[in-house]
Amino acid sequence: MEKKWLNEAFKGEVPNDFRGKVGWQCPSNIALVKYWGKHGKQLPQNPSISFTLSECCTETFVQYEKAEHFGFQFFFEGKENPAFGAKIEKFLLDNQAFFPFINQLDLKVESRNTFPHSSGIASSASSMSAFVICLLDLERSLSLSKGRPIELDLQKASYFARLASGSAARSVFPKMALWGATDCYKGSSDEYAVPLENDIHPIFKTFRDSILIVSGETKSVSSRAGHGLMEGNPYAPARYAQANENIKNLLTALKSGDLDTFINITESEALQLHALMMCSNPSFILMKPNTLHIIEEVRNFRNETHIPLCFTLDAGPNVHLLYPENEAKKVEKFIKSELLTYCNQGRWIADHVGDWPKLLM
Ligand code: PMV
Repeated sequence: MEKKWLNEAFKGEVPNDFRGKVGWQCPSNIALVKYWGKHGKQLPQNPSISFTLSECCTETFVQYEKAEHFGFQFFFEGKENPAFGAKIEKFLLDNQAFFPFINQLDLKVESRNTFPHSSGIASSASSMSAFVICLLDLERSLSLSKGRPIELDLQKASYFARLASGSAARSVFPKMALWGATDCYKGSSDEYAVPLENDIHPIFKTFRDSILIVSGETKSVSSRAGHGLMEGNPYAPARYAQANENIKNLLTALKSGDLDTFINITESEALQLHALMMCSNPSFILMKPNTLHIIEEVRNFRNETHIPLCFTLDAGPNVHLLYPENEAKKVEKFIKSELLTYCNQGRWIADHVGDWPKLLM
């Protein structure tokens, strides 16, 4: 793939009057089979599958203008943010062979999240995918200005989003995505995600994700450090084998609409992710006591009502509750009466499975 995109890169002179603005909104995603552990150039140790979300998104605008040298400024929610900007700038400089035209452009990036501040929700998946799609859109305008029409290539977007932040590879497709090579899915790749929309039962296309905010604090251990700690983790080989098995069984369950298997795998994956953190060296614990209270309540509720409600966790203490749309009334009643007491200031986000990235301008 690299060769193809190196060959295709726009290497010409940027026209003097080339200026404009592109804007895209990209969704976040929540993994069911988790990506935890990487190697080489941001390649996953095992395949992962996620739901694309709808309410938790990043909106990014990139203003560009022809310049003598590469110029870069990054604003997050109206304020200049050098720390986050440095991450994007590094990504651009590391990949300038693919985007050599950036050396003739001044870029001003403005980004904001559609979900609340300090909700502890990771935004790297939505923010990096939104930025990469803006970059490809900018490249398209540039090619067009030279009479060379090119399509916005989502496989390419997923490839470069992956280089910026692994899980971002999965955010460019609607409903569900699979990232990582597996024999069980034709066309799957470690280099980019593929859409799963046409291989899932309709029940999953409108699934709900109610995100219970247990803590809005930023994580004590970054996911970069967490991936790194998998290297010395004695359980890593067993984990990667198990993840591959879970991918195989989950793909079958997603196709047939088998909710029991879906629940089993989803909860086991969430607990495994946190178990891996607890047995790395040094170990760390990202769950909070209220995370466990919620898990216990969810399992009791499911046993008593037989409503197919389950949980998953990201690399943090917040709990994602997953359930079919037709159970929403009963589950939301349960959330409000029993679970909000475990949430930080009673906060939660009502999300559901979402669609494509959206063009904003
Ligand atoms: O994309 P990263 O490097 O932030 O890693 C994401 C890791 C998890 O969110 C814990 C799991 C996943 O597959 O999204």
